[in-house]
Amino acid sequence: MEKPAINGREPIRKKPFPARKPFGKEEIKLVVEAIKSQNLFAPSGNKVKEFEKQFAEKYGVKYAVMSTSGTSAIHIAIGSINPEPGSEIITAPVTDFGTIAGILYQGCIPIFADWKKYTFNMDPEDIEKKITEKTAAIIVVHLFGNPCDMDKIMAVAKKYKIPVIEDCCQAYFTTYRGKYVGTFGDIGCFSMQQSKHMTAGEGGITITNNKKYGERMFLFRDKGWQRLSFGSRAYLFLAPNYRPTEITGAIGLAQLKKAENVVKKRNSLGDMLTELIKDVPEILPAPVTSGGKHSYWTYPFKIIGLNPKKFIEGLKAEGIPAAYAYTGKPIYLCSDALRRKKTFGNSGYPFNSQYYNKEIEYKAGLCPVAEKELTLLGTIGINENWSEKDIKDVAKAIKKIAKNL
Ligand SMILES: Cc1ncc(COP(=O)(O)O)c(C=O)c1O
Repeated sequence: MEKPAINGREPIRKKPFPARKPFGKEEIKLVVEAIKSQNLFAPSGNKVKEFEKQFAEKYGVKYAVMSTSGTSAIHIAIGSINPEPGSEIITAPVTDFGTIAGILYQGCIPIFADWKKYTFNMDPEDIEKKITEKTAAIIVVHLFGNPCDMDKIMAVAKKYKIPVIEDCCQAYFTTYRGKYVGTFGDIGCFSMQQSKHMTAGEGGITITNNKKYGERMFLFRDKGWQRLSFGSRAYLFLAPNYRPTEITGAIGLAQLKKAENVVKKRNSLGDMLTELIKDVPEILPAPVTSGGKHSYWTYPFKIIGLNPKKFIEGLKAEGIPAAYAYTGKPIYLCSDALRRKKTFGNSGYPFNSQYYNKEIEYKAGLCPVAEKELTLLGTIGINENWSEKDIKDVAKAIKKIAKNL
């Protein structure tokens, strides 16, 4: 029997896997253009405006607002819904802190809905269970690029008349029932951080079809500044400055020409890996929501019946870019802003404030399915530059470790 490389044998893969190379001639040309214009300030430039126009067209929405990060894109979404302090916002237990920051900055309380077993996404039934008279919004997270079950989630949201924000930071051009995620709920949010399908190193986009939210989104990004005319100013409400520069707009324009192909390629590579490992009894391949297509920001799988940490160590020894347990713990156990309520000075605001008189404790046991399944989760960092041979090597290594561990 072939012995795994962890015992000092030959690894399946000695040559490094192809790296991402997101930037090229197109980005350079447009960035140079922006710099030569002698203006990098978006309100008086044309790159960010043009990007927003093209992104809105691709998504078939009326409003797209570019900002400085995914975190700001989500904060803009919440700021445009304008919930009362002390409102509850239901979201996913496993995500980046960027999903949570805007909730707290707007004085709201994050409430976590558990994963549905072996989907790595929020369970619509648990979302419904977590709804109270204080719920002001639901933020769904299409984790790893797998669409959430939007039919069921939107049915729950409609029943209780609660707006839905979609965190699509890991799910560009990802379809569910033939439509892009980000257009099912009231608002869609995207990150252009370096690792994302579409990137400018940093950046964010918020989209909507709703006029009230759309108009407020532009104001919320820009200190609430009305910018009606030069001279006397009107700042209409409290809001930060999340304006991107023309450089972000320029790079975004070039990325927008490539992003759909990036997603297509990842979708075919990820689905191919699933096909190759689907009969390995110790593995459950990446789940794909019925009616959806996965965009594989990363390739997730569940390890069953074997020690998952050792399984991943074995894969790494075979030269495979594998990682164990994604964020390690659910966000409410990773974040001291939640776990220890380290927010504004020593106030603990918005928790235990005049706006929120319920006791809330972020501790293990809040979302048992997510807590358990994270410990069984492996990911493979695939990207659009990989070939079919690269995927075959990953499958070979997975089979080898499964047999030999
Ligand atoms: C699911 C999710 N939400 C939010 C964010 C925040 O995005 P950013 O890092 O651009 O602020 C990220 C990315 O890190 C993410 O993956």
